[in-house]
Amino acid sequence: MTVLSEALPVDKLGFGIYYGPKMLSAKYAEGKWGPLELKNTGEISIHPGAKTLHYAQEIFEGLKAYLQKDGSLAMFRPEANIARMTRSAEMLSMPPFPEAKFLEGLKSIIEASKDFATEAPGALYLRPTMICTTPSLGVAPGTEYLFYILLCPVGGYFGSAHVEKPVEVSVLATDEYVRAVRGGIGSAKTGGNYAASLRAIQHAKKHGFNNVLFLDAINQKSLEELGGMNLFIVQNGELQTPTLTDSILAGVTRDSILKLANSMGIKAVERTITIDELLEGIENSKVEEVFACGTAAVVSAITELGWKEKRFKVGNGESGPITQTLFQELTNIHYGKKKAPFPEWMLKV
Ligand SMILES: Cc1ncc(COP(=O)(O)O)c(C=O)c1O
Repeated sequence: MTVLSEALPVDKLGFGIYYGPKMLSAKYAEGKWGPLELKNTGEISIHPGAKTLHYAQEIFEGLKAYLQKDGSLAMFRPEANIARMTRSAEMLSMPPFPEAKFLEGLKSIIEASKDFATEAPGALYLRPTMICTTPSLGVAPGTEYLFYILLCPVGGYFGSAHVEKPVEVSVLATDEYVRAVRGGIGSAKTGGNYAASLRAIQHAKKHGFNNVLFLDAINQKSLEELGGMNLFIVQNGELQTPTLTDSILAGVTRDSILKLANSMGIKAVERTITIDELLEGIENSKVEEVFACGTAAVVSAITELGWKEKRFKVGNGESGPITQTLFQELTNIHYGKKKAPFPEWMLKV
């Protein structure tokens, strides 16, 4: 049974395996959203012809609430996730859920689940989701939708060992598979993008890598992102991340790292970075560090990069100083051990 009736220790939680006992849901019909109601976490029933099952009219979000030093819970930048879900809804021709009600809902489900929160690296992971329930097979947006928020008590994405130090991962850059293309829905958080990334991730795993690095789908030259994380490199002491395009998901962690770095006096820029430049930089030691970032795994050092038949060691093969500093700074902010440079980042429940 994956629905918890009592809290589990943080090292037993894993990621996205266990659910809290409560969820929230609201229905959309006849042009308006109904009330958001607290329910027991459990199965939902939809028609087998529901458009979400056939045409993937589905969007979701992922954010966390963290246990603070004083025992309270605080969410990290929920308004950024709410705004991104509104943008995803527009891209998938769905009716956005009202943002103020959305925030209230997040607070209420966290409040109802507070006994399940654990210390670092644990968190309450929230998964707002919207699906189209209209049971008709014409290729057109539906008229009925279900919005729900699931809550998962989670531990560290890669186990609980990584409280002090980022995890180190290997990544295979690919010009064989693409995740999203210009004019598509790559910048929406929608299931189809993840379906498109699965076989690339499997391919990378089969060859001994933890994840995959996608390039732009047209020229297969510019770095984009990983299967579920954005990318940063440290080149000549400067932090750099690929400029957002409409085939990259605009990560909340990515944006936070850019702002945090600048506030700490680390120069951080967005620019187009090519795979050739990255590999050359790794080889001649101009690229000193590479890391990935996202809500689930926070900051993970990329210490090995694969390309074609070759493997490249980044720096000395361990997480570098800037990666470690940013990981520590961000996790200290999450758990209230340090004040965020932007006070609105942590929203107490
Ligand atoms: C494809 C993809 N890119 C980037 C990210 C990082 O986004 P965030 O920092 O908002 O979690 C995620 C995770 O949500 C993702 O799934």
